[in-house]
Amino acid sequence: MTAINRRRALSGTAAVAVGVPLLAACGGDSDTTATDPATSTSPEEGSASPSEDGAASGGGEALASAADVPVGGCFVVAASKIVVTQPTEGDFKAFTAVCTHQGCVVESSSDGDIPCPCHGSTFSLEDGSPLSGPASSPLAAVEIAVDGDAISLA
Ligand code: FES
Repeated sequence: MTAINRRRALSGTAAVAVGVPLLAACGGDSDTTATDPATSTSPEEGSASPSEDGAASGGGEALASAADVPVGGCFVVAASKIVVTQPTEGDFKAFTAVCTHQGCVVESSSDGDIPCPCHGSTFSLEDGSPLSGPASSPLAAVEIAVDGDAISLA
């Protein structure tokens, strides 16, 4: 009786041990966009064109308010991994907040540049180009729209 229980227990353990790698292999896969040929049937034109008054801002995600971004500094929108800068008053620009050196997220600052906390790279508020540090490539520009105090993705 105890031998059977041991076998069952061992076989149960083996099943768990086999199942763990399978679960782990599935955990990090977020790229599950399967091409579905059934959805690419004849396109119908003229359905729902929402360009009636142009006020709807094309799905531009809100990033920050102008007051969040210091003149001569930058503000990191952590959720979007975007850094918004204001090199001169009223002039806003945005870049990816992912450092081109090894991928750390840069920091908000009012010190005249975009600093990376990991290895000390700094980037230009004006064009995202590297100013110092190990990073040698610029931060990619992101198109934004500024409407009054609201800054959003274009
Ligand atoms: Fe930014 Fe290394 S990751 S300086």
